[in-house]
Amino acid sequence: MNLHPRKLLATAALGITAVALMAQYGDSGDPWWEPGTGRNLPMFSTFPDSTGDITIVNMEGPIATADHPFFQNVGTNYRACITCHQPSSAMGLSTDRIRQQYVDTRGKDPVFAAIDGSNCPSLPQADPASHSLLLQRGLFRIPLPVPSNADYKLAVVEDPTTCNTSTTYGLATNTVSVYRRPRVVANLKYVLGTDGAFHLNPTVKAQLAADGRDSTLAQQAAEAMHAHEQTGRSLTPTELQHNLDFESQIFVAQSADAKGGDLTEVSGPLGAWALGFNKNIKTGPNQPLFLEASYWTKAAHGNTGHTPQTDFRESVARGNAIFMNRSFHIRDVAGMPGGPTSGTCASCHTTPLAGSNLDHPAMDVGTTAYATVAEAKAANPTLPIFKLTWNPNAAPHPYLGREIYTTDPGRALTTGRCADTGSIVM
Ligand code: HEC
Ligand code: HEC
Repeated sequence: MNLHPRKLLATAALGITAVALMAQYGDSGDPWWEPGTGRNLPMFSTFPDSTGDITIVNMEGPIATADHPFFQNVGTNYRACITCHQPSSAMGLSTDRIRQQYVDTRGKDPVFAAIDGSNCPSLPQADPASHSLLLQRGLFRIPLPVPSNADYKLAVVEDPTTCNTSTTYGLATNTVSVYRRPRVVANLKYVLGTDGAFHLNPTVKAQLAADGRDSTLAQQAAEAMHAHEQTGRSLTPTELQHNLDFESQIFVAQSADAKGGDLTEVSGPLGAWALGFNKNIKTGPNQPLFLEASYWTKAAHGNTGHTPQTDFRESVARGNAIFMNRSFHIRDVAGMPGGPTSGTCASCHTTPLAGSNLDHPAMDVGTTAYATVAEAKAANPTLPIFKLTWNPNAAPHPYLGREIYTTDPGRALTTGRCADTGSIVM
């Protein structure tokens, strides 16, 4: 059966009346979700963002969180998964929210824990400057082991956070600290590539995290328990299943735009519903990525004069056409099969609605790896810079060779391969 979301909504095939849907919208409560409060996460929660609203949808209905390991602190530092994957930040964590929380709690919230909520645990924790990467850029410290199969020498060239040269936390202990934002814990079927079912197959292999180091959600959850929540124990099988069930069925999308109006209406993109119901998570030829070409074009409005709303919507439709069709020369990208080529944004961002890529998720598009230290510093003055010198026999990075300056080696930290330096999962 073709479960097109628009048809479903139009015929109310879910048995949920529009009135009931509306009643659950807006039940968002306090925008900061403390772990352990036991409040329910409704089927719909809507939160303002800088251009309108986002809506979170639990496809399977409201969730009681009282005993739920995603929402309860199961570690030793009063954090839970929800601490860094907040509904009001689209299941990630926005810098606005982080700064507000710093003001509201005078920097005492567990999100600022020394271990990774500061630039380095050895810095004076009461000083906001010690949390500058989190406060200014939303970045947590991710300490990773230098891979044992690494065919390179790694040197610290710049260390603005002091952590990579620290004798307790740094390279001396075979640890590399990179700084990364929380990834969105929603819409995960577009990351894991399971075919449309609400429940993800926990054994499906994917590339999770910026460097793709976790290949299943179970592995990722175990890592988060240990690294972010500082707990010695593992999740029980029941707790793990709760987390996987939750992560399987939660979707998020922009639901209203200040100019564009309602983005969930039946004749429009439908927001998070569409992400939840969509079965087409693999790209095929001529697959529309974000919009079905027609619904926001000038023709669709019947040329009935123009308002700020129709202007905005037509602009979105034109942008979508550019994203899908405007061809440009793609070069100096590592990890894209086939070498330099002509393509569009959609040549890399292939997955319908989400813009991820299930076949080649990690590429180096030049956001973290550079040929010279000056370039790296100019782009990222507050991040550490590493110099990677690869073994002369290693297959070189296709355009940076074997001597690379980088603020985050990305996938090379997982694979130990020169050619993967700077490759980040999109
Ligand atoms: C201290 C903040 C913090 C806490 C607490 C936390 N996370 Fe995360 N989470 C992150 C960061 C940062 C990343 C990105 C890591 C990277 O890219 O290396 C991430 C990434 C993820 C991802 C990968 C998503 C993707 O698309 O690749 C999942 C899934 C996830 N977290 C689930 C969890 C779960 C489950 C828990 C609780 C057991 C948890 N997180 C606790 C900060 C946190
Ligand atoms: C060669 C492949 C490729 C092409 C072409 C490409 N992208 Fe990307 N894009 C990526 C990768 C890989 C990432 C993640 C890399 C990173 O963060 O360093 C990314 C990240 C992004 C992000 C950030 C997403 C986020 O969650 O932070 C946006 C937005 C984006 N691309 C938009 C575009 C647009 C618009 C175009 C067309 C003008 C485009 N991309 C063309 C590969 C590509």
